[in-house]
Amino acid sequence: MDPQLPSGTVTFLFADVEGSTRLVRELGEAAWAEALAAQRAVIQERSAASGGRVVDQEGDGTFVVFATAAEALRAAAEVQAVLAEQGTVRVRLGVHTGAPLLTEDGYVGLDVHRAARIAAAAHGGQVVFSSGTRSLVADAQLPAVVRDLGEHRLKDLAAAERLFQLGEGEFPPLRSLPSTNLPVPATAFVGRRRELRELVALLQAPDTRLVTLTGPGGTGKTRLALQAAAEVSDAYADGVWWVPLAPLREAASMLSSVAQMLGVVEEQARPLLDLLADRAAGCRMLLLLDNAEHLLPGIANELSALVTACPGVQLLVTSRERLQLGAEVSVPVPPLSRQDGERLFVDRARSVGVVLRRDEAASELCARLDELPLALELAAARTVVFTPAQLLERLGHRLDLLKGNRDADPRQLTLRATIDWSYELLSPEERRLFAALAVFSNGCSFDAAEAIAGADVDTLQSLLDKSLLRRRESDGGTRYWMLTTIAEYALEKLALLPDSDGLRRRHAQWYRDQALAVVGIPGPADPRSATLSEVERFRDDYDNARAALSWAWNANEDELAIELGTSLCRYWLGVGPYTDATAWLETALPKIDAISPHTKLQALEVGGLIAFFVLADGMLADDLWARAAVVAKELGLADHAAWTDHRRASVAWERGDIGAAIATLERLLVSYEQRGDRLGVAQTLHHLGEAQRDLGDYDAAERQLRAADVIFREHGAVNGLANNTHSLADLALDRGDYAGAIDLYRATLTEYAGEIEAGRLDAYCLAGIASALAATGRDAEAATLWGAVCNAEQAHGFRMLGSERRRYETHLARLEGNDSWIYGRTLDLREAADSLNTITAANARSTPTNTTS
Ligand SMILES: Nc1ncnc2c1ncn2[C@@H]1O[C@H](COP(=O)(O)OP(=O)(O)OP(=O)(O)O)[C@@H](O)[C@H]1O
Ligand SMILES: [Mg+2]
Repeated sequence: MDPQLPSGTVTFLFADVEGSTRLVRELGEAAWAEALAAQRAVIQERSAASGGRVVDQEGDGTFVVFATAAEALRAAAEVQAVLAEQGTVRVRLGVHTGAPLLTEDGYVGLDVHRAARIAAAAHGGQVVFSSGTRSLVADAQLPAVVRDLGEHRLKDLAAAERLFQLGEGEFPPLRSLPSTNLPVPATAFVGRRRELRELVALLQAPDTRLVTLTGPGGTGKTRLALQAAAEVSDAYADGVWWVPLAPLREAASMLSSVAQMLGVVEEQARPLLDLLADRAAGCRMLLLLDNAEHLLPGIANELSALVTACPGVQLLVTSRERLQLGAEVSVPVPPLSRQDGERLFVDRARSVGVVLRRDEAASELCARLDELPLALELAAARTVVFTPAQLLERLGHRLDLLKGNRDADPRQLTLRATIDWSYELLSPEERRLFAALAVFSNGCSFDAAEAIAGADVDTLQSLLDKSLLRRRESDGGTRYWMLTTIAEYALEKLALLPDSDGLRRRHAQWYRDQALAVVGIPGPADPRSATLSEVERFRDDYDNARAALSWAWNANEDELAIELGTSLCRYWLGVGPYTDATAWLETALPKIDAISPHTKLQALEVGGLIAFFVLADGMLADDLWARAAVVAKELGLADHAAWTDHRRASVAWERGDIGAAIATLERLLVSYEQRGDRLGVAQTLHHLGEAQRDLGDYDAAERQLRAADVIFREHGAVNGLANNTHSLADLALDRGDYAGAIDLYRATLTEYAGEIEAGRLDAYCLAGIASALAATGRDAEAATLWGAVCNAEQAHGFRMLGSERRRYETHLARLEGNDSWIYGRTLDLREAADSLNTITAANARSTPTNTTS
């Protein structure tokens, strides 16, 4: 070790030559070697002048360390200035500050690779540095102006960090990780260079559609897949998406998980595969489907259908077994190499504070553990108490016992023995918590672990330290989770707990209450739709809710299962999965008479919503709401009775029986007024207005919609107001008042923004504006907007209600397929809405020609 290397907080500078392969070709080998040496000399000299020391030089990369951040930035600025003058090679420079450990082998820790990753994201001639470095340099010490490049995630998969550029130069966007949900691993990736290179090449080959990484539990399939996905992410303009399959129970749920990840909202009457195909049309994306084995063989057909339906989507699957598909290239993931296995072991020991030498005992232990990453991690977690020699003795003894079994995969036996051993070393309290945490599907928050599994901070931390539990940060806060292999083992232990049923019940009740608190039950007390923020807040917990539901049905806890479904309904209607909603309804209906009347009432009410909006079965919806009305009357709940009647009027309207709808609505209006339910009155007037409008009685319609408007405004009911303004706009359109219609559609667009329903309402409003423009001879603008709306329907997987769509198609169908429409199909709704700023109602007024027939 170089005794002059600085320790403590240090700053790394990493330099990497841009386009070296091209340069070798252009310059020829000899001239290239000369240019490379000259470049190195510049870096070395300029660094030394600022007090830096070269730590490593490999290929065309140079790695320098500085005692202070200001020195590193000064050297970086000078290196770029000198190289720019020489003009042969351009280097990318990355600078990062951290507190790595200084050992005999040099610097170790996550920060070491960070500067290289930052350099890799930069362009030739550019200096990019991390926020850690920025915070340590006073403004006066900066050698040049600094540009804030915003937050970026790099391909080391670490969390997003703010990056800065030194100097004013203009460069293309950083080569950082594009849009992705790849998780942030807590530890550094070790080795696997060859596997990574081969996998990257395979993914980049033009005809590769589906790659499966296979191997026993804990070999590192998931980790390798994540790293490879990050490395190739540049190639996928539409992102790289991680879809964990472990929480799923049925192969059929895979598509809805993918849909949820891609933000595709399910739609009645259209198969999910079609919606996904629409969403992915013309896109290039990589889906990482993680842990598919337990869904075999069913998952194979689903994946094969996905491959066929979405040509721009590549699949990277991890599975303990191959899928046996024609389109599949299966790649076995070997254990780590001897050297990398030891490195992983030593690295992990260091993360629990133990500095190990790579001696014979450590090396033999790693070999006995088959260089299996998970087994190495579990053993390393115990180095706090045992030396490698002691570990070898204890674990080795167990492994010897297993030798007799020749049928099983030896790596599987090794892992099983290691987990067993690790579990048996736990205290009784830790064992209990470990088993109890298996109740969760896809992790949990600390609050849930505490309330359901009785977790306390110390025991939880101890399981984390022993690598039996993991932690990750998500938007909703810290979550605790288990690797799949460990979770399977914990489930076996959970089944043996005396209180396992009680635990499952608490789990189900907790997620029922959670759903209630976050998304709420649709009904008279809360008639609105789920908002995007609610759905987002519940997304992390959905797997738990689904697992709870399936337990409750199996355990004949019907009331609880029905309550769970009722509290999930609004989430289902907002984002799906629709199949979960319909499966719940089907199972719940025959059991509904045996439960308490209040639960039954709510179940019938939300059952009607699922029947109407998901199954598009007006008859069933009407029947369920009729039954709900009876229960509501028995319970003396007038608001529920009115709510169900109101819903039934919508069914009548949808059926085309407008007369019946109006009769019910008028009756409701009287009762809402008598009860002083002003929002009920407003909703009824709104629906009455729509019904009158569709009968052609425009004046009556206008009176009612205006009256509704006043009340919605009084109550600040944004959702109702926006829908009502949109209905007024449709009325103006039907009347031929095109300028008025445009004003009203625009008012709707600005009144209400940012939530799930708003996205859809935007589409309706832009379609309305397009109709008014088409009716006044402004075909090109109309066609562009209509193209954007059709694109949004496909991209978000929804379709406007039939009657509404027909209203707009009257004006717009003739424009479909023309050039402006095709151009519009490339715009998203926001771009289309922006282009609207130039299309004003005043313009529409100036061209009064009515070209509709
Ligand atoms: N190359 C690596 N560098 C660093 N850590 C690794 C590496 N490979 C695996 N690990 C770690 O080893 C553990 C097991 O790896 P991983 O979860 O990828 O296994 P798996 O094959 O997907 O297992 P399963 O079949 O149970 O899903 C994880 O904690 C992972 O982070
Ligand atoms: Mg895995």
